[in-house]
Amino acid sequence: MSEKNVLFTPVKIGNRVAPNRLAWNAMECCDSDEEGNPSGLTYERYKKLFEGQAGIVDLEAITVTYDSRGRKNQLSIMPRNKEALTKFVTEMKKINPDTIFLFQLTHSGELSHPDFSERVCVKPLPGFGGRVLEEEDIEKIMDQFVLSAKIAHDVGADGIDLKFSHGYLGSQILRPYNDRKWKYGGSWENRSRFAFELMERIKEEVNDPNFILGSKVSVWEGFPGGTGSAGPDTAVMDLTESIELCKGLEERGASYILQSAGSPSITLALSQPDKSIPDYAYLHHYFSKVLKDNLKPETVVMGSAYSIFRDGRNNLQAVKKEENTLEYWGNKNINDGVVDVVVLGRQSFADPYLPKKLMEGRQEEVKWCTACDSCIEFLIRQMPVGCAVYNKPYTEALVKVRKEEGKLRQKRT
Ligand SMILES: Cc1cc2nc3c(=O)[nH]c(=O)nc-3n(C[C@H](O)[C@H](O)[C@H](O)COP(=O)(O)O)c2cc1C
Ligand code: SF4
Repeated sequence: MSEKNVLFTPVKIGNRVAPNRLAWNAMECCDSDEEGNPSGLTYERYKKLFEGQAGIVDLEAITVTYDSRGRKNQLSIMPRNKEALTKFVTEMKKINPDTIFLFQLTHSGELSHPDFSERVCVKPLPGFGGRVLEEEDIEKIMDQFVLSAKIAHDVGADGIDLKFSHGYLGSQILRPYNDRKWKYGGSWENRSRFAFELMERIKEEVNDPNFILGSKVSVWEGFPGGTGSAGPDTAVMDLTESIELCKGLEERGASYILQSAGSPSITLALSQPDKSIPDYAYLHHYFSKVLKDNLKPETVVMGSAYSIFRDGRNNLQAVKKEENTLEYWGNKNINDGVVDVVVLGRQSFADPYLPKKLMEGRQEEVKWCTACDSCIEFLIRQMPVGCAVYNKPYTEALVKVRKEEGKLRQKRT
């Protein structure tokens, strides 16, 4: 490897230090119990992630309310979950006290599932919709986020990730498409109000300088009126507001930004580059570089969408084919000031022991994610999520559900 190996050097985030620069992204898995508490399956997944020695683990999107939520069995963070979450964090910290554990707080908004919760929106988007939220609703939701942040702190998490990404409520409010004339829509000042007031309130009310504050941001959603577009009805990219958002969050106490892009229910391959459109992965490098260039040097920029690089067996164009690996790009991008931390999503399902294996020079033992996207199929079907390629129970579950669906289709025709 021509680049200096920096993936396994520590990185300071706020007043804390992550032991290395490989992180696991937030990955929802629909396997909580009926109260939104971690189940046996949840424990099994995170136990492996902590044993795998990543520098940072971002807990999957955990909902601040059960009234509006995207998944039937979604983890939740309300007073009723406090005891179970305390036990969960304690168990994970026993396995590995060094890994930084962040909680990704979310509200699903227009992505809430109407079969078991209320779908709500800031302005109906074709294909989504829901009850249009009023100012009092947003104020209540802000209170729920603040309460959840306090709970995250009290149960022992090291910090939070406010979800302003992937088309959930945090992004919906920020979009230029939200041009409705109300306190939280129209001008940038109005659309950024929720994000900025929320960060300010959490900083003040949690009041712990060692608690890490940050946010996962979809810098460009990739559709007309989405975040990072030049107006409510254009898809032309203009990152001015996304940069303003990250700078504003930084001013109000964020010590990291987790860069992402896309809105998976609309632009899936942009969020998680797949085999057919792998090249979007390079766009993520550009986005994280833009953030690095605009934020303070001490603000940690974490970059998403690295699973596709694998061990070089991918169909991405490269300058030197043999160097087109996760390790190559991770090291190069950190060395070149493109990113500070390399974050992987789907690879965490394929092989949660990846960081440990790489650290120990056991590259040949890594089970590399093939970017087949079967795991997202579980999520769409509201089934417990896992890797259908390397984890037999999940392979069997997928075969079974597809077979049953095939039979049903045959019966209908
Ligand atoms: C099954 C599944 C669940 C996901 N859940 C979340 C989530 O809870 N929060 C989030 O911000 N992103 C979520 N993502 C997106 C990932 O965190 C990540 O941004 C994306 O997969 C790109 O990274 P990768 O190319 O390394 O997989 C999910 C992706 C998948 C496939
Ligand atoms: S199911 Fe496919 S995309 Fe998902 S983790 Fe496994 S190999 Fe990767």
